[in-house]
Amino acid sequence: MKENISIFDTTLRDGEQSPGCSMNPKEKLKMARQLEALNVDIIEAGFPIASEGDFEAVKEIAMTVKGPTIAALSRATQVDIDRAFEALQYASKPRIHTFVATSDIHLKYKLKKTREEVLEQSIRAVEHAKQLTDDVEFSCEDASRTDLDYLCRVIEAVIEAGATVVNLPDTVGYAIPVEYGDLIRTIRQRVKNFDKAILSVHCHNDLGLAVANSIAAVLNGARQVECTINGIGERAGNASLEEFVMALRTRPDALPFQTGINTEEIYKSSRLLSSLTGMMVQRNKAIVGANAFSHEAGIHQDGVIKSRMTYEIMTPESVGIKHSTLVLGKHSGRHALKKRFEELGYSLSAEELDTVYQEFTRLADKKKEILDDDLIAILNNETENDEFSYMLTSLQVMTGTGVRSTAVLEMSDGKQTYVDSATGDGPVDAAYKAIERITKMNGQLVDYTINSVTWGGDAVGEVFVKVIFNDVVFTGHAASTDIVTGSVEAYLQAVNRAISARAAKMPGEELIKNQANAV
Ligand code: KIV
Ligand code: ZN
Repeated sequence: MKENISIFDTTLRDGEQSPGCSMNPKEKLKMARQLEALNVDIIEAGFPIASEGDFEAVKEIAMTVKGPTIAALSRATQVDIDRAFEALQYASKPRIHTFVATSDIHLKYKLKKTREEVLEQSIRAVEHAKQLTDDVEFSCEDASRTDLDYLCRVIEAVIEAGATVVNLPDTVGYAIPVEYGDLIRTIRQRVKNFDKAILSVHCHNDLGLAVANSIAAVLNGARQVECTINGIGERAGNASLEEFVMALRTRPDALPFQTGINTEEIYKSSRLLSSLTGMMVQRNKAIVGANAFSHEAGIHQDGVIKSRMTYEIMTPESVGIKHSTLVLGKHSGRHALKKRFEELGYSLSAEELDTVYQEFTRLADKKKEILDDDLIAILNNETENDEFSYMLTSLQVMTGTGVRSTAVLEMSDGKQTYVDSATGDGPVDAAYKAIERITKMNGQLVDYTINSVTWGGDAVGEVFVKVIFNDVVFTGHAASTDIVTGSVEAYLQAVNRAISARAAKMPGEELIKNQANAV
């Protein structure tokens, strides 16, 4: 009989707080819905005290996503815990996740507290959280570098105070599998009330060992694993959900454990996250990279043709990568499009199909064969319809070597049409200057990325931008076969978001969050 491992997904908290991965509340909700379809056990939705946006996102997710437990992070203080529960109170299954560092390095340099003070603070935090909800997780930050005797004392005390889950993070990705496995086993031997709580692990990937350490931990008694889609997270990231889950599924002989993950939703989750954040996975990334199931060498191709078992240890279908049964193009109708999306695992409402079909026909005019990844890019490209949104209606650029580029731009806000032109250092720069002249929004472009989602000269390119308006960072994303048009649409999305945030008087996301993260 296989033992169950709970999957605690922290894509929306540890993942989202890392550079380049921030999402606004709407995007976080979209990702949370996908995590629900993936059937994770727990979604850590954010760190409510860190920013207004994070608070709103946790609240929205708690109100809407009813399958998994919804967790929110808080430092081990009353104000943090109260704020976390204020956002979580609407969840059907809320969990407060409170933490404090326990290693001497953190105590001496960061917290400037004694071991006794931190022990006392941990107990008080759990007791307080316990008055708000029954499900309380306590994390000993930097557990893998904490003195073992002291770590055992803290664990025993917080379980006694009511913690239902105790998490032992390898916060700086320093542990190696044998040692981390031993740590979990020793804790089970030495902490007398360990069976009153679930032991959890949370591994960072600084040495590329996060998944290996998580596996060593479950082999030694951990029953909750904290991980993220695509392995995003602080610095080198967290343990990747897809790698951990597929290791258990592919090697039941060595790893007699099961998870509730619906593995066929893995690829979709990975693609959605990349589209929302602009953080693409490398081609050779295990499980979800573009090359993960492609066989290039002649000997390998020959083997796979004879039997897939020769070079494939798991099937692409098992993670939701489907083989096309029909190729879509200019003559394909709405019905074929709907069917293909269904085959890819997306069921679209009539309204969604209408929007996507319009995009599809535009793309089919430019591209002979529309591939699955093009379709996913179109779907993930769907823009928000805020009350006040600028839309690009026409764009002309003149560019060349040794001349300044010129862009003539026409935009509409639904009520009025605006036309202006500007020159710049290349067509994209010229177009951005024309947008600035029309919108009077002066932004500083701090990040600009283009990725090709398929191949060939007519491939769809996904463009991601980050723009600072009045000290606040806004992101934008668009997909198009024309990179200048895609670049303009991505920039306009960032402008529209900045205008909506100003109208809603939402404080800036990243800058505030970065301050609160300095715990
Ligand atoms: O890495 C870490 O220690 C954390 C804790 C807050 C759980 O993310
Ligand atoms: Zn972490």
